[in-house]
Amino acid sequence: MAKRTIIFLALGVALAAASPSLAKPLSYILPDDSSAFRPGPGVEAAQKNCAACHSADYISIQPPNKGSVFWDAEVQKMIKVYHAPIDQNDVKSISEYLAKTY
Ligand code: HEC
Repeated sequence: MAKRTIIFLALGVALAAASPSLAKPLSYILPDDSSAFRPGPGVEAAQKNCAACHSADYISIQPPNKGSVFWDAEVQKMIKVYHAPIDQNDVKSISEYLAKTY
């Protein structure tokens, strides 16, 4: 009986000694954020209105030089289809920024 108690005690001590290393927090080094909006006039409006649901990658992976008609339609689509809460007064400056910068 006494022998079994000693074995259990030894097991308990061993587990207690091992657990701090098991509970050690992991730390990760994340890559830099590569999806920032490109600088340019109007970038603040785009940052404010276009970063709530997805990253700027959705914008930068579009074909380049699509022009303001394309970008205006894109912004309207975000509002109408995806219910983006974008003020209609901001639409023009956002689509001009996107047309000039992307
Ligand atoms: C309310 C959330 C929301 C906001 C705010 C938003 N988007 Fe989107 N956007 C979406 C969703 C949802 C998709 C589609 C994702 C998918 O198909 O995987 C999308 C897709 C896109 C795409 C990919 C092409 C396409 O038409 O599907 C572009 C470009 C884009 N958004 C631009 C913008 C711009 C520019 C703004 C700011 C004016 C903006 N988004 C703001 C939700 C949003």
